[in-house]
Amino acid sequence: MATQHEFEALVVGAGGAGLMAALHCSKTVKNTAVISKLYPTRSHTGTAQGGVAAPLGNMEEDRWDWYMYDTVKGGDYLVDQDAAEVLAKESVDAVIELEHMGLPFDRTPDGKIEQRRFGGHTRNFGEAPVMRSCKAADRTGHMILQTLYQQCIKQNVKFFDEYQVIDLIIEDQVCRGAVAVEILTGEIHVFHSKATLLAVGGFGRVWSVTSNAHSLTGDTVATVLRHDLPLEDMEFFQFHPTGIYRMGVLLSEALRGEGAIFVNDKGERFMERYAPNMKDLASRDVCSRSIYLEIREGRGIGGKDYVHIDVRPETINKYKSGPGGKPVTAEHLEAALPDVFEMARIYLGVEPMKEGIPVQPTAHYAMGGVPTDLDTRVLADEQGAIVKGLYAAGECACVSVHGANRLGTNSLVDLIVFGRRGGRAMAEYVQHADLAPLPKNSEAYTLSELERIRKSNGQEKPGQIRLEMQKTMMDWVGVFREGPTIKQALDKVHELQARYQHIAIDDKGSKFNTDLLEAWELGCLLDLAEVTAYSALNRTESRGAHGREDFPKRDDVNWLKHTFAWRKNGVLSVAYKPVTITKFEPKERKY
Ligand code: FUM
Repeated sequence: MATQHEFEALVVGAGGAGLMAALHCSKTVKNTAVISKLYPTRSHTGTAQGGVAAPLGNMEEDRWDWYMYDTVKGGDYLVDQDAAEVLAKESVDAVIELEHMGLPFDRTPDGKIEQRRFGGHTRNFGEAPVMRSCKAADRTGHMILQTLYQQCIKQNVKFFDEYQVIDLIIEDQVCRGAVAVEILTGEIHVFHSKATLLAVGGFGRVWSVTSNAHSLTGDTVATVLRHDLPLEDMEFFQFHPTGIYRMGVLLSEALRGEGAIFVNDKGERFMERYAPNMKDLASRDVCSRSIYLEIREGRGIGGKDYVHIDVRPETINKYKSGPGGKPVTAEHLEAALPDVFEMARIYLGVEPMKEGIPVQPTAHYAMGGVPTDLDTRVLADEQGAIVKGLYAAGECACVSVHGANRLGTNSLVDLIVFGRRGGRAMAEYVQHADLAPLPKNSEAYTLSELERIRKSNGQEKPGQIRLEMQKTMMDWVGVFREGPTIKQALDKVHELQARYQHIAIDDKGSKFNTDLLEAWELGCLLDLAEVTAYSALNRTESRGAHGREDFPKRDDVNWLKHTFAWRKNGVLSVAYKPVTITKFEPKERKY
């Protein structure tokens, strides 16, 4: 028996996008609820360190169209330009809204929000780096979460913390809510709603080296796929260049915003060769590929598979790479990057003021996901059909504002701009929509799926399957890929999906059964790994984060289009949708 709830509007996920949506929806819809598998302020938005972009022009001249251009170019022209225009224009107002809510941004001496540089953000259409990232030291995402959560509490949004959504209730292309398990008790809850917004984040746990938390397993993204709906542009997954060596934990790009540089085993500032203009502030796909090339050519530190990020004040001042070319001090860096320095000291035992920090590219961000329109309404196909009552925002969604590669700081902007649009769109919708009836036994799939895993007594261990999937995807569908090895990865994922049917878990109980839920999450990760590899195999060009060694060039004639991938009855298929181009015709991307 499941417990039933009824809400006008439901949000799944309590990161920045979910909270912003819930907040804005709750301003007109009093009966708004949020379901989160974590306590809200533990959501992954908290790990986005370096800042949130907005062309405020507080430090130097800046303009929304320069920002839009950078976003389009950074995304290797796969960005839908109507979405980039919304992002660039609405970022200003959204950041000021956060300021008015009390977010403790760093301040200039005259009291304005302080801004710093970030990769790929430039003035005057690519001329030189610009200070556009609004920041609270290197804890910006954390501050956004705290601020929005407080506001939601003030608005009386109802929270269901540590409830994990296992299924969406979708019938006749209308979403009617979600089914979740209460992690503490194991009880099933049916949430009946007029509108449901997904804001569940990414799925970096598909790869072995990732900046993503354990919870980022793409559960609800896979659930959308299981309802015979498409996922968009899954071949584009970003590797952030500065993951802590072997652990993958993120060291913010704000390091380079403050003037740090990459160094190889020979002590060379190698980004000068790969991106003569932007150097270490080139976009992330460019930096990650350059690091791999250095390692491949034997110039990793000590011949190993990592390079150094050098943030010593003497290095920054030697290259005059500090903000505005001004000299930096150790005190300034300690205040600007407290968490980064603490992580380097604790996790690596490295003293960043005296030595380079070992880093390697780490799986960081899904540019692809659940396709939506500009109002976050979920698309049922590449023609633009809508799933009524279903919305998605933030990393799990693909609007597509990041195209083939996201710029740093654009995740936080995406959360607040499209989270807000989603909240407003839901509020508008629920005022006119009827509550579509629940199908009979809405909870049946969830019950049977969890029972199947609980009772399964095969020989396979979920942990072993997870390790093999992560290694396969890291080796063959990582920063560089090529046809035959992507095909091998796809075959391996199919083998793992077959073995997954024969897993056994140790904990057969109901209460706080993370063994059970992690095994269920593994099935979601496998489905997403499969669609990622399949989409990557189909796209025979290199663009943004999708670097095909067998097709090293971008091919606008054949591939200036979005992938829509389905998995129906176990059979994968794709269709394509043209990219929306409004202002900037695709050009060769030079940094
Ligand atoms: O590097 C960072 O601080 C991460 C930010 C982002 O992914 O946008």
